[in-house]
Amino acid sequence: MKALIVSGGKGTRLRPLTYTSAKQLVPVANKPVLVRVIETVRAAGLTDVGIVVGDTAPEIQRVIGDGSRWGINIEYIQQSAPLGLAHAVLESEAWLGDSRFVMFLGDNVIQGGINQLISEFAHSDWNAQVVLTRVAEPQHYGVAIIEDGHIVRLIEKPRQPPSDLALVGIYMFDPHIFEAVHAIQPSWRGEYEITDAIQWLIEHGYRVHPYIHTGWWIDTGKTVDMLAANVRVLDEIEPYCAGYVDRDSAVSGKVTIEKGAEIINSVIRGPAIIGEETRIVNSYVGPFTSIYHHCVVENSEIEHSIILENCEIRDLPARLEDSLIGRNVVIGRSPVKPKAYKMILGDHSQVGVL
Ligand code: TTP
Repeated sequence: MKALIVSGGKGTRLRPLTYTSAKQLVPVANKPVLVRVIETVRAAGLTDVGIVVGDTAPEIQRVIGDGSRWGINIEYIQQSAPLGLAHAVLESEAWLGDSRFVMFLGDNVIQGGINQLISEFAHSDWNAQVVLTRVAEPQHYGVAIIEDGHIVRLIEKPRQPPSDLALVGIYMFDPHIFEAVHAIQPSWRGEYEITDAIQWLIEHGYRVHPYIHTGWWIDTGKTVDMLAANVRVLDEIEPYCAGYVDRDSAVSGKVTIEKGAEIINSVIRGPAIIGEETRIVNSYVGPFTSIYHHCVVENSEIEHSIILENCEIRDLPARLEDSLIGRNVVIGRSPVKPKAYKMILGDHSQVGVL
């Protein structure tokens, strides 16, 4: 079996970060989401991996490489335009050939891996298997109706949901999916929808089997979901300390301190992770915070946030919370008069002032 990881797309909901970078490379608990996906696929024994890329192809290729780091082969498939998940499958046809494959969204994080469902599908004669999970508000998702153990219908964002079983973003297919992706038309939003392709399979007599996932699953497409994924993953990782904590600091709970990090006269309350070569000085870092490599946090308090690399955060008069801060950001008090907020923000930035 092959694995197809889709990592193109537009990323409009995660602007402004996605103006300069791929959303799949935003770190959750200091590891890019796409690396988590690759590790999940690798753990299921799949070594032939195709990554569908779009405008952010050079950055993804630079960070991920050829797969040798994980002992796998990675092939990059350039999608000509972000025209939907079924379009991503269509443009991967030559690479996929006649293999059965799992398709995984490159911005999703799932608890517990996919080993079981891969082996179920590999040993079955189903034409497709779709991962579903029970959600509180099914009207916001693609929802499946199941009869006699098979999916009989998929409905995108139903006003009156017929079930609470939503599509998770992990699909397994045999080559019949290509008949479907060639046959369907774009939806009202101009995208070739994978749900339409699966519905086509069902209507043409192919067997589409459900797999109900019981752990958590998070689509990190928006800031709030990115922070939610960070909470979940930080809670599960095994903490360690490879950095330096001075005697005036207090570290409690699940706290990971990466190589070269320094904690000086500060309080760190886990779950939290402090990245390589990052310095935390006279500060408080509270639960569910991930601070990436080469940052400085001084005389400040941070909680429930993700900070990317090379940021400087100094002398904040109030706590920074619920924030996702991009690379090379400087936040501090302005020393020169007149006393005022002074900001240089990219398009679609959001700032909450006191
Ligand atoms: P989405 O989050 O559904 O779409 P998007 O990335 O365009 O983001 P937004 O809605 O905020 O504009 O995509 C899910 C995953 O699939 C993500 O990793 C990007 C990838 N994808 C492709 O590779 N090609 C595509 O044509 C689309 C739509 C998504």
